[in-house]
Amino acid sequence: MTIARNQVAVGIDLGTTRSVVAHLDNTGRPCTVQNLEGDATTPSVVFFDRKSIVVGKEALKAAEYEPDRVVQFAKRDLGKEGYRIPVAGQQIPPEVIQALILRKLKDDAIHRLGPLDQCVVTVPAYFNEPRRKATQDAGRLAGLNVVDIINEPTAAALAYGVQRGFVSSEGKTESLETVLVYDLGGGTFDVTLMEIVGHDYAAIATAGDVYLGGIDWDHRIADHVAEQFLIQFGVDPRTNASEQQRLLTEAEDAKRALSQRDEVIIRFSMDGNRIQVPLDRGLFETLCGDLIDRTLLTTRKALKEANRTWKDVSRLLVVGGSSRMPMVQEMLESESNLKVDRSLSADESVAHGAAIYAGILLKTDQKLSSTIAIHNVNSHDLGLLGLDKDSGGQRRSMMIPRNSRLPVKKGKRFATSRQNQASVSVKVVEGGDDEGRHATLIGNCVVRDLPPDLPAATPVDVFFNYGDDGRLHVTAALPTVGTKAEMTIERESGLSGDDLTYWAGRIEAGLLETSTPTAESKVAAVESAAAVPIANVASSLRAPAAKDPVVVSKPAVVPKTFVAGTPAKVAPTLKPSVPSKSATISETRNIPQPEKHAPESPSTEAPASGGWKSRRQQITPGETP
Ligand SMILES: Nc1ncnc2c1ncn2[C@@H]1O[C@H](COP(=O)(O)OP(=O)(O)OP(=O)(O)O)[C@@H](O)[C@H]1O
Ligand SMILES: [Mg+2]
Repeated sequence: MTIARNQVAVGIDLGTTRSVVAHLDNTGRPCTVQNLEGDATTPSVVFFDRKSIVVGKEALKAAEYEPDRVVQFAKRDLGKEGYRIPVAGQQIPPEVIQALILRKLKDDAIHRLGPLDQCVVTVPAYFNEPRRKATQDAGRLAGLNVVDIINEPTAAALAYGVQRGFVSSEGKTESLETVLVYDLGGGTFDVTLMEIVGHDYAAIATAGDVYLGGIDWDHRIADHVAEQFLIQFGVDPRTNASEQQRLLTEAEDAKRALSQRDEVIIRFSMDGNRIQVPLDRGLFETLCGDLIDRTLLTTRKALKEANRTWKDVSRLLVVGGSSRMPMVQEMLESESNLKVDRSLSADESVAHGAAIYAGILLKTDQKLSSTIAIHNVNSHDLGLLGLDKDSGGQRRSMMIPRNSRLPVKKGKRFATSRQNQASVSVKVVEGGDDEGRHATLIGNCVVRDLPPDLPAATPVDVFFNYGDDGRLHVTAALPTVGTKAEMTIERESGLSGDDLTYWAGRIEAGLLETSTPTAESKVAAVESAAAVPIANVASSLRAPAAKDPVVVSKPAVVPKTFVAGTPAKVAPTLKPSVPSKSATISETRNIPQPEKHAPESPSTEAPASGGWKSRRQQITPGETP
C-alpha cells in the first residue's frame, strides 16, 4: 500500500441505500462533503439510461418508471461467487455497480475539495473476506486508492469518541470505556463491542447480519398494503416491478413518518383502484417484531462472545438511519437499562469516523495520528477443510476462531493423505460447522510439484496470518520436502485481475454495451491475460481430484505439540498459481474440539428468553423485570 502523505483525508461510507463522503477540515474536524446536488447523502442507486449512467437521486426516481434499468442494494450482493446483476440487457458484477457509485462520490468530492485519489472506505464489521475484497476492488475500478477499509462500528465509535469528547482532542480516554455500537442501516445490521483505553480502540466482539436493514422493514409495510389491495381488488401490485417499487417508496415514506408520528395513512392506487391503509406504531411493530428481535438476538450474541454483560457497557451508541425508528431505542433501553446515545447524525457519523481514520493514515491530523491505535477482531471463524483421519470424511479444522484479536497468527501441522501425492490443496474456509457445512470457501492455498513417490503422511505445516488490515495470508509448506515446495493462495470468489482490467475498460467506455460479453470477447478485451496454459495445469495433476480415493494413512512421526511460529522457509518456485483439485490433506494431531457454533446464516429464530415485545408484555406495572 502506497500512501502519499499530507493529502486530503477522505472517508467514504458506502451504504446499501445511501452513501456519504466526509473529510477533515483545516482544524481537523470531520465534515460531510455535499454532492453536486447539494445533499449530504447520495442514494446508492445506479440507473443505466440509454446514453449515460446516472447515479444517486435521479437514479432513484427512475426506479419507479424503468426498474429494469436500475440497480439498488448491490452491497448485499458483494462477494457472492460468480454473481451478476441483470440490468438493461447486461450482466454486471456487484463490484462494478459499487464502483460506479464510488466514482460519482469521488467526482463530486473532487469538485468540492480539489484533487484527491486516496480514501478510506467503510464496511460492515460482519463482512467476510470476499465481501471486503470486493469492496476494495470496487475502489480500484473507480480509480480510487483505498488506503484501508475500516469497520463501520469502529468508525462510528471513533467519530463519537472524538466529537462527543469522551476522548480528548488527542484521542485519549481518561478511563476505560466499554462501548456497544448498534448499527442498523438500510441493508445490513452490525453490532460491535469496543473497549477504548487511552489511545487504544479495540473491538472485542462483533456480530451481525448482512441481510437485515431498513429495506426489510419497508417490505413488511409494502406486503401489508399489497395484501389489503389483493383482498379488495383481486390484484397483487407486487407482481409488477414498477408498482412494487412505487409501493416500496410509499412504505419507506410511511416508515419514516412513523418515527415522528403515531399513525399514518398509506395511499396507493393502481389501474384506477385506490386504497387507503391506516398504519399505527403498534401495528408496525407487530409487523416487524421478528426483525427487531433478530437485532436483539445478535446483540446478545456479541455480548456473550465478549464475555460481557450490559453492566459492563458504559456507552450505547446507535447509528444507521434505521435506528431512528422508536422501536429500536425502546428495545435497547428496556434490554440494557442504559440511555441510548444518538447525539451524532445517524447518517453521517460512520463517514466522519472514516475521515478521522483517513486523517490518521495520511497523517493530515498530526495530533491524532501520533496517538490512536485501532485493533480489530475477525468477524468469522477461519479454518481449513481436510480429511478426518479416522472417519475419512470432510472435516473443518479451526485455525482462528471468530472474535480473535488481530493481528493473529496460528499454525498447525497436517499430513498428506496418500502416497505419490502430486500436490497439496489447503481449502481455506470462513464460518461453517465442524464438518465444513455452511462454510464459505475463500481461498485455496496450493503446494504443487511435489517429488515423485512422496510417502503418505508427509508433514504439511499450515499458517494463517490475519493482519491488522483484516486481510488473511495463508502459507503451506512441506518441511521435509524443503526448497522445492511452493506456496500460492488463490481466491475462489471475486473478480480476477483480468476481470478487473476488463471491467475497468468497460466502465471507461461508459458501460453502454447492451449485449452480455461472451467469454471470447472478454479474453480479447484483456490484453494482459497471462493465464496459465491449460496443458500446464493438466500435467501438474498426476491424479485428478474426482478419482482420488479418500485414503488417510497413518500419521508420520509428528511433534506432540506444535508451536506456531515462523513458517518453514520455502523457496517459492515460479509456477503461476492454479487451483489444484488433486490432493487433500489430513490432520495428524488431535484437532482440538472447537466450541459448537451455529451455522453462520442470518438468524430467524426468536431470542431464547423472548423478544423485546413479548418481554415488554410480560412486564406489568409494579413488577420488577
Ligand atoms: N426517520 C427515519 N425513520 C426510520 N427509518 C429511517 C429514517 N431515516 C432513514 N431511515 C432508514 O435508514 C435506512 C438508511 O440508513 P443508512 O443510510 O444508515 O443505511 P446505509 O448506510 O445505506 O446502509 P448499510 O449501513 O446497511 O449499508 C433506510 O432504510 C431508511 O429508510
Ligand atoms: Mg451504513
